[in-house]
Amino acid sequence: MHCQSLPELISEHDSTRAASAGWTLLMRIAVVGMGHVGLVTAVALSAIGHNVIGLDSDEDRIIGLFNAQLPFYEPGLKEEMARQTFAGRLWFCTSPADAYPAAEVVFICVGTPPDENGAANLIAVERAALSIYEHASDGCVVVEKSTVPCGTHQRLSRALGGYSRIYVASNPEFLREGTALMDTLEPSRIVVGTNSESARLALRGVYQPIIDSMEGEPFAYIETDIATAELAKNASNAMLATKISFMNLMARICEAGGADVTKVAEVMGADPRIGPAFLDAGIGFGGFCFPKDVAALAYTAQSLGCDPDLLNEVLAINQDALLTVFERIKTELWHLQGKQVGVLGLAFKPDTDDTRFSPAVELCRLLIEGGATVVGWDPQAGKSAQTELPDLILAGDPYIAAEGSDLLVIATEWPETADLDIDRLAGVIKGRTIVDGRNMLPDWKVSYAETQGFKVFGVGRLCEWN
Ligand code: UGA
Repeated sequence: MHCQSLPELISEHDSTRAASAGWTLLMRIAVVGMGHVGLVTAVALSAIGHNVIGLDSDEDRIIGLFNAQLPFYEPGLKEEMARQTFAGRLWFCTSPADAYPAAEVVFICVGTPPDENGAANLIAVERAALSIYEHASDGCVVVEKSTVPCGTHQRLSRALGGYSRIYVASNPEFLREGTALMDTLEPSRIVVGTNSESARLALRGVYQPIIDSMEGEPFAYIETDIATAELAKNASNAMLATKISFMNLMARICEAGGADVTKVAEVMGADPRIGPAFLDAGIGFGGFCFPKDVAALAYTAQSLGCDPDLLNEVLAINQDALLTVFERIKTELWHLQGKQVGVLGLAFKPDTDDTRFSPAVELCRLLIEGGATVVGWDPQAGKSAQTELPDLILAGDPYIAAEGSDLLVIATEWPETADLDIDRLAGVIKGRTIVDGRNMLPDWKVSYAETQGFKVFGVGRLCEWN
């Protein structure tokens, strides 16, 4: 079978020369799934010079994109998307017959939500593969970008006709919501898993502009086999989640032993072998990645005959982190019935409107179920949180959320929460208790609040826990 694609026609030497001469190697790329990963990928690949078509079966979403409406909040994305559509490098469609025939590379970016047993549900990946098989041209390279369990490529290649005319590759994404575009255009690493030279060269062609622009920066372009690339993504997320759960375990020990987890983290983070990132104890990790990816890796480990205990414990500690703060609130309020709690932050983390698996929303749910009235504030995620929790009352700013409240909780690490004006707060809040579930308030502010009659509780800190 003769497979023809642009990267095959251009030798690696030529492509390197072209790129170093400042030329952009245009490729025709389709991206299926216009969610967070897919849309960012499509915008970023068009921004580095490729012709990109974004495909989604949701017609309303595609119409919205044509009208410059994003289905979610992501800083800088809307502006870059407008620039690329205006330049004619990026467009959108709902029909596989429009997207796939001309594509040299197709990125699969559809959702892989968790099943009840924790396994990743891959039905959308299979559907995408069958549709690509029907419409794609010979030599097309199909890239798994959705987070999938190790070994998925074997099923994928079967759905694509068994490597006879379509190549399979894995190129996991490491973007974070809130900094997604920067993470894609200036990544710390790009991982490409292939088992054919054609696919390897195609992905080199796709990423050559980024490889060039990252010269001299800390950056790694890592080529592996496909299974390794698949696992590397899951392993990275699980490691980050493990760091957080480790610190939440330390927080419990600090509370019991009279130590300060923020200082413990400072000491640990100063060791370059550990590093300071992802050492913040709090109400735990959330979002659509960490909880599901750790559960999926535990499931994969178990199904491969390996011990998943460590991963299950990471999830258990994460749940305990949330419940510890909930219990603290209950202890302070005595009963939740008839009480009002102000909650600052609803998104699973700052700079996003995403509330999927948000610990902040979960905390609101527990408070509401316990009988409290909850008034929440979030700069981006209010509406989405209220869709999940219709009884949640939304406030336009932190002080309105605090007005008349018996207790105030900081649940998401929005920078605004560190800037709280204690005097203003004292003028509106009913109770005098702040539970800082993300250790956002600086020490001097905690001390000042205490002089104003507040009790301030952090997580794993010396203040009021014991
Ligand atoms: C995460 C990874 O960081 C990305 O590299 C990966 O590409 C992405 O998942 C994915 O798989 O798509 P994201 O879910 O956007 O990115 O969020 P993070 O910034 O990693 O934060 C995850 C959660 O951990 C948040 O709830 C955050 O509040 C919490 N967190 C983070 C802590 O509780 N403590 C910390 O020290 C850091």
